Amino acid sequence: MYINFWYPIALSDEVTNESPVKVEIMGMNFVAFRDTKANAHVISNTCIHRGGALGNGMIKDDCIVCPYHGWEFAGDGKCTNIPTLPQDKKTPARAKVDSYPTEERYGILFAFLGDLPADERPPIFDISEYGQEGWRANKVVVFEVNAYYQRSVENGLDGAHNEFVHPLQGAPSIIETLRVRPLEVDDVPPWGSEFMYPASGSTSAETKLIGAGEGETWAGSAHHGPNTLITRIIFSETKAFRQYFFEAPINDGRTRIFFVNMRCFMMEPENDQRLIDVNMRIADEDINIIEALDPVRTPFSTAKELLTPVDKPIFRYRDYLKEWDNKGWRIDWKKLQELKGDVAFTIACPTRRTEKNWILDIVPLVAGE
Ligand code: FES
Ligand SMILES: [Fe+2]
Repeated sequence: MYINFWYPIALSDEVTNESPVKVEIMGMNFVAFRDTKANAHVISNTCIHRGGALGNGMIKDDCIVCPYHGWEFAGDGKCTNIPTLPQDKKTPARAKVDSYPTEERYGILFAFLGDLPADERPPIFDISEYGQEGWRANKVVVFEVNAYYQRSVENGLDGAHNEFVHPLQGAPSIIETLRVRPLEVDDVPPWGSEFMYPASGSTSAETKLIGAGEGETWAGSAHHGPNTLITRIIFSETKAFRQYFFEAPINDGRTRIFFVNMRCFMMEPENDQRLIDVNMRIADEDINIIEALDPVRTPFSTAKELLTPVDKPIFRYRDYLKEWDNKGWRIDWKKLQELKGDVAFTIACPTRRTEKNWILDIVPLVAGE
């Protein structure tokens, strides 16, 4: 798990100025809320007074009110009111929690969980066809799986499982193509890689089901950062799906996934639910597999799994993870588990680079190179 990337927090329309939304990501809690100007904020959940859960509080005057002693925190993380403070005392400068940069895209609220300045941040993946004529987005589907998010991303980068895991994609040609052709993985620097292969899906039951099976089918996937997976299926020149999975590790055994499906055919709204149903049925088949993987987390050594040429995209993904390890962005999960309960941790926000005096400890990180 890595700091310094954008994580999906909640659907935009779940985030209101009526009550806060508490979310766990990477073993820590965060709170999202909206102010009366409709700006969304994400701050650390732990009240720096005596550890109250801000996410269980209420919203008043564009601030979150801690449910324990009523301290009020604005969207920038600063405490604006300590009700029990003697009147001749000023609110201490240390009365603040981390506040994270936010962006709303595709109906999802994202937060940048890290301390990089704006010009150094890896971007949220840009869905270039989103909102463009000729493309239709399904409503975002949010689901959770009992699996580690890197295992989930790697499953999406794994083109060799389809005919074994998905009865609908059971065309032997898929595997034959993969067997005979070298699989080329292209870098999409600096945050990802991608590949496409001819999948000749015209014989698969899935292709027939959606009536898209004329011409050659291409399929492939990509990743952007550690937690965004893209799947592209081109059924013909005019028929394609592009699927985007923005993933948030809740902890090392559970992942929340925000799924955006784009299509350039079957444009009628009444097809939305039908396509969600097909896609989620396929996702369930993947979930059955990834929830049972051993080890649960991606092994650090590629020698601990026997990878073959078709697993090249997974190799490349793991190479990228190593690059982010080298930057010192990986959370020291074991240490976090060991100390959690005695210490309240959070992720450093960008303001920590310019302001001192913080109460909460920064999540332990594995030293980079
Ligand atoms: S713990 Fe939050 S106000 Fe006391
Ligand atoms: Fe799959």
